[in-house]
Amino acid sequence: MFRLITLFFLLPALYASAVTLPTVKGESLPDTDGVHVNAHGGNIIKIGDTYYWYGEQRGDGSEGSYQLGVSCYTSTDLATWRNHGTVLAVNDRPGDPLEQGCLLERPKVVYCPATDKYVLWFHHELKGRGYAAAQAGVAVADNPLGPFTLLKTSRVNPGYYPMEMTDEQKNATYADKLEWWTPSWRKAVSDGMFNLRDLPGGQMARDMTIYIDDDGRAYHIFASEENLTINIAELDSTFTRHTGRYTRVAAGGQNEAPAIFKKDGTYWMITSGCTGWAPNAARMMKANSIMGPWEQLPNPCRGQGAETTFESQGTYIMEHEGNFIFMADRWNPKQLNDSRHLWIPIQFDADGTPYLTLE
Ligand code: DGJ
Repeated sequence: MFRLITLFFLLPALYASAVTLPTVKGESLPDTDGVHVNAHGGNIIKIGDTYYWYGEQRGDGSEGSYQLGVSCYTSTDLATWRNHGTVLAVNDRPGDPLEQGCLLERPKVVYCPATDKYVLWFHHELKGRGYAAAQAGVAVADNPLGPFTLLKTSRVNPGYYPMEMTDEQKNATYADKLEWWTPSWRKAVSDGMFNLRDLPGGQMARDMTIYIDDDGRAYHIFASEENLTINIAELDSTFTRHTGRYTRVAAGGQNEAPAIFKKDGTYWMITSGCTGWAPNAARMMKANSIMGPWEQLPNPCRGQGAETTFESQGTYIMEHEGNFIFMADRWNPKQLNDSRHLWIPIQFDADGTPYLTLE
């Protein structure tokens, strides 16, 4: 009898450990045409039985090659991927925000129930201006395979103060030139110096993700203030506009590549540091409310490669059958289309703390 009862309690645990989660470790990932999946910095959503993988459709680095736009691949098993081409394309119209040579980085697509549309957000940079524009772009489609129609590209939340900013911080004035990284500069950044500078035209928006909470609200989470501070900004019910309600996270902490998930009521955010295309050690934060406060935690990576996030940088955390998979890019800046993919199932310590390992 005792044995039977023991078995009864053990079976679910045995079953859980037997589940095989999709894992990708930086190997070449050929699609059904035999070509490495050219969808970088993106996300995967499931509609019906089909997975849709969106990402940056990058050039091969040869002279004159440019980013084609945002690509989409589909699969029913997360292993065999069919290429559906460009769902939001660049064009050859001079002065157009999507003119060839512009950048559409870190695209994320979500389904909006209120409008029955698919909404694509991305980090947008204008042709010839490097990373100076620091804008968010948004496009919509009736079909997950597109084509997506661009609604706008702009900075974010012009005229709106962050929700936690005090009157004293709102009314502060700063010397024109504070030397970077000095204690007075750090204090000024933390108090919102760059936020106030950008208030009239809107906040800078670079690396980004979109998160839909379990109450159906959507949030745009992005690197702002010269990549020094993360913003978490609420979207309206159409998921295409900011409401003006937002919080600043880890001010001065230099975080990029935000990816987020929620488990047992706790929000976990994994980010990278700011070292261009070169990998660095990931960081982690947690919060009980999406609008914070967020608590800084150590690097969630363990084992060999932990100091470089296994030579990669996160892009998205995909929920899969009750588990969470950290998706990352191993960037190849000389040939961005050949940047490799990593999918690492998130594991948890006995106290519920997430960690990542390739071992
Ligand atoms: C790091 C970002 O995470 C990438 O998306 C890209 O913008 C590179 N910087 C460019 O150097």
